[in-house]
Amino acid sequence: MSQPSILFVCLGNICRSPMAEAALRAQAVAAGVALTIDSAGTGNWHVGRPPDPRAQQTVRRHGLDISGYKARQVVEADFFRFGHIFALDQQNLKDLRRIAPSRHAAEVALLMDLVPGRKGTAVVDPYYGDEEDFEQAWADVSAAANVLVGRFTP
Ligand code: 4NP
Repeated sequence: MSQPSILFVCLGNICRSPMAEAALRAQAVAAGVALTIDSAGTGNWHVGRPPDPRAQQTVRRHGLDISGYKARQVVEADFFRFGHIFALDQQNLKDLRRIAPSRHAAEVALLMDLVPGRKGTAVVDPYYGDEEDFEQAWADVSAAANVLVGRFTP
């Protein structure tokens, strides 16, 4: 069997989903779990750009480097390429369900539903916020990544 594959999806793919990708990549490496991990945005405004400088700074404070990431838009093929697609907020989830091809086997779910006590909640978009909002987003995606590593540990 191929290894588990996880795609994180937010709006711009420059703030929340790249941080989720970084958090899970780091935790999977630390746990010795082999996962295919990527992120994408429902929107196309930032395609080809690196993560927002504030997102880069936030993950750098936690010892990680995402300066090489490049934003991309989610495509239909993602629903066949990834076994698990996690939306960072409810609007992202709605948009994903709208663009999903009629036949696909991927799990499409709200990311924070994974985290005990956070069912139905969003990783709040920090784009119009400040450093504290980026730190909160990092804490949220790290908590979800922790659950995912546990779930996919053989
Ligand atoms: P993200 O944040 O969805 O977490 O990447 C945003 C990035 C850009 C915009 C909104 C949210 N924007 O409106 O351009």
